[in-house]
Amino acid sequence: MNVFCALKSPPTSILSPQNPRISLPFSLLPSPSWPNPRDTVAIGVSWERNYGIAAYRDSKLPFFSFFRSSPTRNHRGRLQIVMSPVLICDAVEWQDLKKHAEEIKRTHLRDLMGDVDRCKLMTAEYDGIILDYSRQCADQETLEKLLKLAEQAAHLKEKINRMYNGEHINSTEDRSVLHIALRAARDSVIHSDGRNVVPDVWNVIEKINNFSERVRSGSWVGATGKTLKDVVAVGIGGSFLGPLFVHTALQTDPEAAEFAKGRQLRFLANVDPVDVARNITGLNPETTLVVVVSKTFTTAETMLNARTLREWISDALGQQAIAKHMVAVSTNLKLVEEFGIDPNNAFAFWDWVGGRYSVCSAVGVLPLSLQYGFPVIEKFLDGARSIDKHFYSASFDKNIPVLLGLLSVWNVSFLGFPARAILPYSQALEKFAPHIQQLSMESNGKGVSIDGIPLPFETGEIDFGEPGTNGQHSFYQLIHQGRVIPCDFIGVVKSQRPVYLKGEIVSNHDELMSNFFAQPDALAYGKSPEQLQSENVGSHLIPHKTFSGNRPSLSLLLPSLSAYNVGQLLAIYEHRIAVEGFIWDINSFDQWGVELGKSLASQVRKQLNLSRTSGKPVEGFNFSTTSLLSIYLQADTGLPPDNSTTLPKL
Ligand code: F6P
Repeated sequence: MNVFCALKSPPTSILSPQNPRISLPFSLLPSPSWPNPRDTVAIGVSWERNYGIAAYRDSKLPFFSFFRSSPTRNHRGRLQIVMSPVLICDAVEWQDLKKHAEEIKRTHLRDLMGDVDRCKLMTAEYDGIILDYSRQCADQETLEKLLKLAEQAAHLKEKINRMYNGEHINSTEDRSVLHIALRAARDSVIHSDGRNVVPDVWNVIEKINNFSERVRSGSWVGATGKTLKDVVAVGIGGSFLGPLFVHTALQTDPEAAEFAKGRQLRFLANVDPVDVARNITGLNPETTLVVVVSKTFTTAETMLNARTLREWISDALGQQAIAKHMVAVSTNLKLVEEFGIDPNNAFAFWDWVGGRYSVCSAVGVLPLSLQYGFPVIEKFLDGARSIDKHFYSASFDKNIPVLLGLLSVWNVSFLGFPARAILPYSQALEKFAPHIQQLSMESNGKGVSIDGIPLPFETGEIDFGEPGTNGQHSFYQLIHQGRVIPCDFIGVVKSQRPVYLKGEIVSNHDELMSNFFAQPDALAYGKSPEQLQSENVGSHLIPHKTFSGNRPSLSLLLPSLSAYNVGQLLAIYEHRIAVEGFIWDINSFDQWGVELGKSLASQVRKQLNLSRTSGKPVEGFNFSTTSLLSIYLQADTGLPPDNSTTLPKL
């Protein structure tokens, strides 16, 4: 393309592998064919001609740099130049892995598992957690090549450092990504926009510690003087799934359960009035505290649910009771106040915390501390912090989140497996897969690179899962004989609630764990027709009973499921997902894909209001939506005709 930029002054730094990112002031020479200022263009930098930058659109020039241009309307600004191939899939390391994948596809896990030296290498251990990835369709060479991709092509270390240094790596929202600061030690220093955020984090933690203690001890009481023993956390997505996962995991932990005696924590997420009904059933407004959790405080579902519970409280106890019965967690304290919640009862967090990465902020820490007491939740934060340190400092070949992330990229991008099953052999982790679904799919389900270039390869994986052994009696059939789905087996050495019946050959936990140890081998080895023949299986059944094997999995073994271990598990997956995004070179921290549906729903909402209040016919929608809406509007709503407030009948 024929566009040229002139640098305003000679660059002070030169691009090189050691200095792969520079920022230069520029002004654009007039050119009729300059693309839309928001367009992504690729540029080539000449090593010798320091003063000139040629800009190309859709350039595939080898070893040239690219940038996401955001020049101002007058075509002046700064160029962000990153030395890198245009897309990661153009890197020689990626191409090399592509070739290598063809070789691996010809190998069977049965044979790979026979190589003990390989299996010894394919494990990692840190702070009590063991990762065994020997059942991945990979060998030592795969690992070397993946590490090379991470180090030399994806500049993974540099990207991790940029995250930890508070750089605005969430470029489309122009934000830092600092969930690690939420669990940083009190004396650590982590900057975002020139400000050390750790004291801010600890101020909120102290406020939560103090408030939760007052509520739990009964020194903060409801409007009628009763202790608030029940909490309903109102929030959705990241303001719900992470805290729900942690709550479910701690419910049966002996230490946490002891501190939760006599208390209940519930979560209201869905805007479905049935969820409201379920949540308030059996609760007394006099003894209930509602925590409204919303980063933006604008999410339609959460705000309607919050207004509904505000009505539920004021209906029973009067408007003045709100101050004692409702608190909020948000980054938008102005809207919290406008809603009618006392700003003193608001717990802040910051725009450098992504919603799905916010469980360690007040989003999770407040409701969980109300239920279990802050000292227990502090252990959860400690566990996450331990993994943060490991992720930052361990060499990649021993780094659990890095290895997991690289193996996911290997499975998705090179072996072509689009899904991943999360299979905790622990009922306490029953809400782990739903949390990972949001964490992973909202983070990595993207179609363009971080620079806005359409990707010619798929990113992200389809996550789903259930605790073993329930899943075994449900969807494992497909995993064993249908599609190939890489599986994460997550096991716990010591049960939270050991049970043994005299006379049984194993304890109940051993029974559970027998499956945890057996399933990965069943998937890897399978069962051949020859084996079936030797067992005298009838020939007509042999095809049905054959297991092809060669189905990859990995095993994560946790020593127990204390608050500390739950924090470790959370951080391992948070960082693993970031690693995947860093390798694919996408923005794992924005979520533009959720916007379109939201804006279409608001058009429908407007129509429903107009039709219901003034009988306006449905218009402006396609044939299908118009027909469905018309049928919907004609039916009985079950609400009184006078439009009076109606709360669910219990
Ligand atoms: O569904 C999109 C989303 O923005 C998520 O990313 C977020 O976790 C959720 O909605 C809730 O948002 P908020 O905390 O602002 O209410």
